[in-house]
Amino acid sequence: MNILAIETSCDETSAAIVRDGRHVLASVIASQIEIHQKFGGVVPEVASRQHILLIAPVLQQALDEAALGWEHIDAVAVTNGPGLAGALLVGVNAGKAIAFARQKPLVGVNHLESHIYANWLIPPALEKKEAPDAPQFPLITLIVSGGHTEIVLMRGHGDYQLLGKTQDDAAGEAYDKVARVIGLGYPGGPLLEKAAAGGDPARFPFARAWLKGTYDFSFSGLKTAVLRKVGEYQAPLPKPAPFSGSVPAEARPKAVPVRLGQVDLPVADIAASFQQAVVEVLATKTVRAAEEYEARQILIAGGVAANKALRAALAAQAAPLNLSVSYPPQVFCTDNAAMVGAAAYFKLQSGSDVPVDYSLDIRPNWELVH
Ligand code: KG4
Ligand code: ZN
Repeated sequence: MNILAIETSCDETSAAIVRDGRHVLASVIASQIEIHQKFGGVVPEVASRQHILLIAPVLQQALDEAALGWEHIDAVAVTNGPGLAGALLVGVNAGKAIAFARQKPLVGVNHLESHIYANWLIPPALEKKEAPDAPQFPLITLIVSGGHTEIVLMRGHGDYQLLGKTQDDAAGEAYDKVARVIGLGYPGGPLLEKAAAGGDPARFPFARAWLKGTYDFSFSGLKTAVLRKVGEYQAPLPKPAPFSGSVPAEARPKAVPVRLGQVDLPVADIAASFQQAVVEVLATKTVRAAEEYEARQILIAGGVAANKALRAALAAQAAPLNLSVSYPPQVFCTDNAAMVGAAAYFKLQSGSDVPVDYSLDIRPNWELVH
C-alpha cells in the first residue's frame, strides 16, 4: 500500500510516499529555518504563508522522486494536530483536495503519534540491506519534541497509556530557550548540542527536578537556574572611584570597556551542564518506566530524539537491563511527512476509526493521550 503523506504542523513543509508503513519511496522536507531565524523563533503567520507557497511543489517533487503517478497512490494521510492552526490548515486542505479528487481514503494523523511511528521507518541507507526489525510491544516511548515531553506505554498499535508528562516546558522548548539565553540563536536544540560537545558537563551542577514517585518532568526551574548563572557573568562591574580633580590624568582609573554580550560566558560548559541535567532525568525516568512495565524496548520520538547525548544516556542506563533503545533515522527525528505515512498505514491496518469521508478538520490542541 502506497500512502501519500503530508506534514505542515509547524515550520517544515513536507510530503512523502511510504510503502507498507516502513519503506520511504520519497521524502521531501522544505525547511523554513532560514526564514524564521531572523525572528529568533517560528512566526505562525509567516509559517502558514510559506506552507501555502511550498505545498504544491513539495507534493509534486515527492511524486517525481518516487517516479509514481497519482494512480499508484492508495491513501492520503495528513497531520491534523496538534500544531499551529494556520499551518495545519494548509496541509489538511491539500490532503482533502487530493483525496477527494482521487476518491481515496483520507487519514488524519496525530503529530505525536507520527513521531512515534518514525521508529518504524527503515533508514534509506539500509533499504537495500537487511531491514531492521519493527519495534516490539510492549514498549515505552519517550516523546521529546518542541511542544511535548511524555512517557507513554504502548501495548500494541494505537494503544497508548500516558505514564507521565512535563508540568511546564517541553524538553525541546527548554533547549530552545536556554540556547537563546546563552546567545546561540535558533533553532536552539542542535546548536546547543554542538556547543555542549566541547564543554564540561560537571562544571555547573544544576539542580534536577526529580518529582519523585511520578513519571512527570519539570524543566522551568532548570531554565531559571541557567538564566541566573548567565546573570552572574553579566553582573555590572564595580563602579570606579568618583573623579577627583586633584588626581593627575595618568593616575585616574582607566575606563573599563563594559562588555555587554557574553564575552566571558562559559557557553560550552553551561550548555554541557544544562544538557547533562536534562538527559539524566529523561533517561532515568524512562528506563524506570520500562522496568516497571516490563517493556521489551524503549523508543525515542520527537525532535530531541536527534540528540546524541540523550541517546547515549538512555543506552547506558538501559544496557544493564538488557533493554534496547531505538530512535528514528536521523532525518526522520524532526518533523517530516514519512512518519505520517507510517502512522497512517498502521492505523489503516488496525481498522481503527479512520475517517474516509473528507470531513477531517484541524485539531491544534489534540492530545495523543490524556
Ligand atoms: O519534533 P520537532 O521537530 O517539532 C515539534 O513537534 O516540536 O521538535 C523540534 C524540537 C525543537 O525544540 C528543537 O530544538 C529540538 O526538537 N531538537 C533538538 C535537537 N534537534 C532538534 N534538541 C536537542 N538536540 C538536538 N539535536
Ligand atoms: Zn514534531
